Amino acid sequence: MAAMVDMAVDAGVPLVEMVDVGKSYGVIQALRGVSLRVNAGEVTCVLGDNGAGKSTLIKIMSGLHQQSEGALRVDGEEVRFGSPREALDRGIATVYQDLAVVPLMEVWRNFFLGSEVRKRLWPFNPLDAEGMRRTARAELSKMGIELDDVNQPIGTLSGGQRQCVAIARAVYFGARVLILDEPTAALGVKQSGVVLRYIARARDAGLGVVLITHNPHHAYLVGDHFVVLKRGQMSLDGKRDEITLDELTQQMAGGDELEALTSELRRAQV
Ligand SMILES: Nc1ncnc2c1ncn2[C@@H]1O[C@H](COP(=O)(O)OP(=O)(O)OP(=O)(O)O)[C@@H](O)[C@H]1O
Ligand SMILES: [Mg+2]
Repeated sequence: MAAMVDMAVDAGVPLVEMVDVGKSYGVIQALRGVSLRVNAGEVTCVLGDNGAGKSTLIKIMSGLHQQSEGALRVDGEEVRFGSPREALDRGIATVYQDLAVVPLMEVWRNFFLGSEVRKRLWPFNPLDAEGMRRTARAELSKMGIELDDVNQPIGTLSGGQRQCVAIARAVYFGARVLILDEPTAALGVKQSGVVLRYIARARDAGLGVVLITHNPHHAYLVGDHFVVLKRGQMSLDGKRDEITLDELTQQMAGGDELEALTSELRRAQV
């Protein structure tokens, strides 16, 4: 009853919602009491140090793992995904950091990789390579990725371009929620900018984006909502107008811990 009232008051039901989610791996409690909402047309950033539970959180959302406690809702309906395929069927697409690409495979083939089922929806024969090339080229160009040749092996693209191809692909195949695990971690300033621009485009196209990152500056450039995890629990949860970049940076730098480290290292030098 209370939930129904909440829903009526709240104009938009979130695409995905986690309520008090916890996850244990045997004796290790990787997540505890995590609640967050992914809204259409917004970027939700999840920040945190190594081992904070970021990947665990998105693995639950993307159907790779199941939570031990709490609820996962999609369009307001409680779900329990048995596999990533089930999450994908609900429009939740995940771009992992390593991207699982085959480096020698052509860009266009990579664009269509693993979506053979979807191809049957199209009026052309699955072996219509020319059609797939054309589509891949057009879709990439729509996202602002201009490649000389979609026949080039995906391994010849830069890390940033590869992330962008993966995002364009998820958008084309109908993702409503796009989860990105550290998409800028291995990239320089310029390439990071390119990827952040595509994230903004996906947001503007109405997708709900979940951006996992260590970098508060990247998060603040595109984020609407910020969640910081610390040892599996939420240490900060705020909308953009409730939190400054300084606060976010301070949280990520680990404030007190950094001070303690500074004095420890100074002593070590004497
Ligand atoms: N499959 C697993 N089995 C056992 N423990 C796990 C498993 N996956 C994660 N953990 C533990 O859960 C905790 C959270 O890990 P997680 O990978 O979610 O962190 P993270 O925030 O993604 O870290 P990083 O920034 O290093 O990627 C860690 O203590 C980790 O050792
Ligand atoms: Mg991780």
